Amino acid sequence: MPEANREQAVVKEGKKSFTIAIDGPAAAGKGTLSRRIAAEYGFHHLDTGLTYRATAHALLKQGLPLDDEALAEKVALALDLSGLDREVLSSHEIGDAASRVAAMPAVRRALVVAQRRFAGKRPGTVLDGRDIGTVVCPDAPVKLYVTASPEVRARRRFDEILQRGGSADYAVVFDDVKRRDERDMGRADSPLKPAEDAHLLDTSEMSIEAAFQAARSLIDAALKTI
Ligand code: DC
Repeated sequence: MPEANREQAVVKEGKKSFTIAIDGPAAAGKGTLSRRIAAEYGFHHLDTGLTYRATAHALLKQGLPLDDEALAEKVALALDLSGLDREVLSSHEIGDAASRVAAMPAVRRALVVAQRRFAGKRPGTVLDGRDIGTVVCPDAPVKLYVTASPEVRARRRFDEILQRGGSADYAVVFDDVKRRDERDMGRADSPLKPAEDAHLLDTSEMSIEAAFQAARSLIDAALKTI
């Protein structure tokens, strides 16, 4: 059996799930990287940003206010993680509303419980977000912090919009990236920051393929120790 497959088999026979925690700012490439890693190892993947987006979307859809924490908590507690639809939840409006509910401690508590439950799925899981290595799964055997300069991230987002046939102004996209960073890094509850034991992957001048290869070496090394 090839070595990589043998390592995966060991995880499958083991009792505990193997969790890979991936954090970083918006548009750093962590979504693509997470999906790629999950496919490579046959692990379950959860984009935790979608859980905040789905909470915000449910409130918007019902015409409910975005500043009522008790109400938002109720919605978060009722969320079904199996029904998260990236296409429906990807709009700018929902992203903006998500960053508001993500600042509410009661919402975070409710969603973290669901995210931790997901993290226990066997044989292993990949969770990506802002606080996975620091709060949700502090004991994850592999923690990656994926980042890139704001200019590079804004450029990627801008190109993505154009590729989809949309139109955008780079300066507006850049301001939006900076504003999201400030909100994610500046909030009191679970701000975005690398866990002390996270491996830093700066993708400013690194292709997603190179980042994937770097991540794979770290994951393979960690799998050998379990
Ligand atoms: O990554 P995203 O744009 O889909 O995230 C939506 C919002 O949720 C964004 O403001 C960051 C926030 N978020 C969070 O606070 N914690 C996470 N684990 C994931 C996302």
